[in-house]
Amino acid sequence: MDKLKINGGKSLNGTVEVSGAKNASLPILISAILGSGKSRYERVPALQDIKTTELVLNHLGLSSTFEKGVMTLDAAKIATVDAPYDLVRKMRASILVLGPLLAREGKAKVSLPGGCAIGARPIDLHLFALEKLGAKITLDGGYVIAEAKRLKGNRVAFEFPSVGATENAMMAAVLAEGETVLENSAKEPEIVDLAIALRTMGAKISGEGTESIHIQGVNALSGANHRVVGDRIEAGTFLAAALATRGRVTVNGLAPHHLESVLAKFEEAGARVVRGEESITLEANGRGKGTDVKTQPFPGFPTDMQAQFMAAMCVADGSSLITETIFENRFMHVPELARLGCDLTIRGNSVLVRGKDRLTAAPLMATDLRASASLVMGGLCAEGETVVSRIYHLDRGYERMEEKLRSLGARIERVKESD
Ligand code: UD1
Repeated sequence: MDKLKINGGKSLNGTVEVSGAKNASLPILISAILGSGKSRYERVPALQDIKTTELVLNHLGLSSTFEKGVMTLDAAKIATVDAPYDLVRKMRASILVLGPLLAREGKAKVSLPGGCAIGARPIDLHLFALEKLGAKITLDGGYVIAEAKRLKGNRVAFEFPSVGATENAMMAAVLAEGETVLENSAKEPEIVDLAIALRTMGAKISGEGTESIHIQGVNALSGANHRVVGDRIEAGTFLAAALATRGRVTVNGLAPHHLESVLAKFEEAGARVVRGEESITLEANGRGKGTDVKTQPFPGFPTDMQAQFMAAMCVADGSSLITETIFENRFMHVPELARLGCDLTIRGNSVLVRGKDRLTAAPLMATDLRASASLVMGGLCAEGETVVSRIYHLDRGYERMEEKLRSLGARIERVKESD
């Protein structure tokens, strides 16, 4: 198991290229199940979660190649409609195979993903949507079994705009008979990217990015040809690190409006933000100012940026109240950040952060993906050597993070646990 060794106290400066978005890639690669031909995807990040997705798809009978960010998937034949626990437990997003398998094969059997470190994360909204499209759902031995000879288009009104449930419903509805309208659907850029990829397969979708998505079902889909959107969360992480270390960083390769709610908060915290066509520059104006944040579905402040923003506020001037409304247990970074000397008080679903001028290095343990990024940021600010262990969490979602940080001037290296 690898660790990251960080010698903090240095400002980040320079330009970094963002990778393709992990959270867009996962559903998009899975949507290849729907097409009877070969699909080709560009700008796919080389991440653990992507390897897991490839394994799941290989298990279902899709052949694949993955080289230099290009993944090809051939779904000429589906070998099985069964996604077992051993594969699904490695990555919750595997539940997204349910909709496309059911739509194409008339049946799917997928292990229930169970809880995860950041909360219970039920899938009731996924099942609700598939039932509305005519699926018969049974739960047996820890598996969801969904059956329908042919799904039928319908109006599906979500109680909450779940990203995963919207994606599963979209992938089911594209092959259903007739029209589907998804109301109160998620509006995240990853949903829009999935719609774009599905359209290259011949799907008839409109309204993505708004709360009401219209889908006209078709009888069959061909292979896809798509380039994945830039990772807004990765970009936001580097910009937050620039703010925290009082530096100046440009991120290239994403649409600034995908990150607008976060950029507005950086500005409120005193940073200068320049929005280019496909780039963003953040220049810290000395020490940041304490700024309150509340996570919300898109276009609100993303829960996936909460931990990193908190890390930046730990070294800001003044207090900040960080409120998490999406996941119930997403403060696992708090006790770890406290080890660096951060002054943090948890009150229900909020954390009161009292900014400190200085942090001091400490050994830290990564707990989940975005929490890990916040610990790395804490290490970049702290004086002395911080070691972050269990960084396999980080490797699930950030491509070559330490290399990219090094190119910005950070003193950070990867070491093997045994070293
Ligand atoms: C996706 C992202 C994740 C991000 C999250 C919110 C991927 C692979 N993951 O996760 O990084 O943090 O969106 O932006 O894209 N819920 C239910 N029932 C359901 C589904 C969800 O109650 O059937 C609840 C969840 O427990 C959670 C909230 O809805 O409290 C948001 O979840 P959702 O939007 O579905 O997130 P994911 O798709 O799991």
